[in-house]
Amino acid sequence: MSQASGKRALDYVPVFDMARLFTTDAAAFADFAKNEFGPTTSDNGFCRWALTPEIKKLEEAHFEKAKKFHALPEDVKKGFVSDAEQMGYKGLKTEAKRRKKGAIPDEKTYFMLEQGLGRTFNEVSRNVLVNKNTGKHIDDYVPGYSDSILDLMDARQNIAKRILEAVALYLDVPADSISQYVDGGKHAQRDLYYPPCQNPQKGVMRIDTHQDRGLLTLLRAENGLDVQDKNGVWHALETQQGEWISNGGLQLEIFSNGLYRAAPHRVRMPDDMAIRLQPRYANPWFGSARGETIIAPLADLVARTGQNNFPYAIRERSLASMGTRQYTDENEKLKKKLKGNAPQP
Ligand SMILES: [Fe+2]
Repeated sequence: MSQASGKRALDYVPVFDMARLFTTDAAAFADFAKNEFGPTTSDNGFCRWALTPEIKKLEEAHFEKAKKFHALPEDVKKGFVSDAEQMGYKGLKTEAKRRKKGAIPDEKTYFMLEQGLGRTFNEVSRNVLVNKNTGKHIDDYVPGYSDSILDLMDARQNIAKRILEAVALYLDVPADSISQYVDGGKHAQRDLYYPPCQNPQKGVMRIDTHQDRGLLTLLRAENGLDVQDKNGVWHALETQQGEWISNGGLQLEIFSNGLYRAAPHRVRMPDDMAIRLQPRYANPWFGSARGETIIAPLADLVARTGQNNFPYAIRERSLASMGTRQYTDENEKLKKKLKGNAPQP
């Protein structure tokens, strides 16, 4: 697939040492942002990161806890529910109901929590952590779970801020132009478990084509991830075990006036039945701006490019209910309308 672009898949999404994000040398960071990170990732928004030993340790600690959670009896897991959409535990049946008729199988279960301001959960998530049937806290079932997930979420929030600073420096706007929306934003950690897949049908997807909605997504590298480039060509993303992937979401694409793209992507189901029958875990973190934030291109970038590619300005919370596809449709409609009204040369 990647051959179609003339690039090798491993070159297509670069890998950087995560330690480069933590440097205190401002000039070195700006140089990295402008000359390495930005130019090689802006076309698609995807980047691979080789973990520092500290981050690796922290992630592995939580990964073990997430596995223990998913090994709990279904009746216990079901007690960690929430009325808030997507929060708490969602079992196979809940997901099946959400799936549209005839849609591609995407059989997953997950446990999702949101961070509040600082190293803490938000109110909804604090409630989720107490089992509705037994009154017991999650830490009574999986000792240390709430601490390990907060450690991971907190680290990911800081990493996301640094990546967004790098994007801003690449775009030649003040470093905090986009990262300022991270503190107090809606950041969710989703501990996913995909049970063995019995479906023998070939060519199916685990997660069908979509664009992430938020600012930035961070996750442990997984096999089967395809990224669609500007020309609509799909590229298989080759990764090494233990890496993380970062990818920009629609909010970032809008803030950047389209200069930092949020590429559509999908996760293929391996055709090999032996692999399908192995259980699989994943742990994406979705970083998003605060609900009241107006998502619109930065004025500097509109002035520089001479046009606003996202005239359909919208608050984060409205974008959340609208979804990426509907937003894009409305934006395209408005763009056409504005073009029609523009004085003809
Ligand atoms: Fe995604």
